[in-house]
Amino acid sequence: MKHLIAPSVLAADFANLQRDVEMLNRSEADWIHVDVMDGMFVPNISFGLPVVEAIQKHATKPLDVHLMINDPDRYLTAFKNAGAANITVHLEACTHLHRTVHAIKDLGCLAGVALNPHTPISLLEDIIADVDMILIMSVNPGFGGQRFIANTYKKIVQLKQLAMSSNPELYIEIDGGVGTYNAAQLIAAGANVLVAGNSVFSAPDALAAVTSLKQANNLVA
Ligand code: DX5
Ligand code: ZN
Repeated sequence: MKHLIAPSVLAADFANLQRDVEMLNRSEADWIHVDVMDGMFVPNISFGLPVVEAIQKHATKPLDVHLMINDPDRYLTAFKNAGAANITVHLEACTHLHRTVHAIKDLGCLAGVALNPHTPISLLEDIIADVDMILIMSVNPGFGGQRFIANTYKKIVQLKQLAMSSNPELYIEIDGGVGTYNAAQLIAAGANVLVAGNSVFSAPDALAAVTSLKQANNLVA
């Protein structure tokens, strides 16, 4: 499958969110990545439901909502109603992950599970067949603009191997420190969805930055 690009609006200009979402609509982005943080699961608060609703009002692409919140079961229906197409929860934040994943699917959303950098791929063995997507955090979640953790490559290869036997259609999404400098290598390892915050929004030409991420696999073809 051709890889997907999901720019993160965490790096957008919040005072010009409509303008930035409309820019993503015109870009080659496939999804719009939306990072929700609660100040408990991660040491930062980003934004919540009203902002997701406001993004949805202007977005013409699916909202890929990444919940960095404790006990996300409490808010799944609310995020679906706010416009989420995909809902990703953290393995570390869910006591009954199997139940949570199926609750997301029952809402009609794609169900994703995210792993922090310290969480091993082996913990996915008994959930991988139930999910649509695994998000591998390539930085410690909470902030944009951090440095990519190189151990991620090994995890992508391990996950790809597990997916080949248990869930060949799996989306393998990488989040944190992604840019044109590492995109081709991530895809070569097995990633098929790349999240990009600062490498898109801090680029002199954000549209061109999305295009070059979209074309990154040409470098490894
Ligand atoms: C980090 C977020 C990321 C972040 C990526 O907690 O989950 O989605 O926005 O930002 P960059 O691409 O700037 O590392
Ligand atoms: Zn994210």
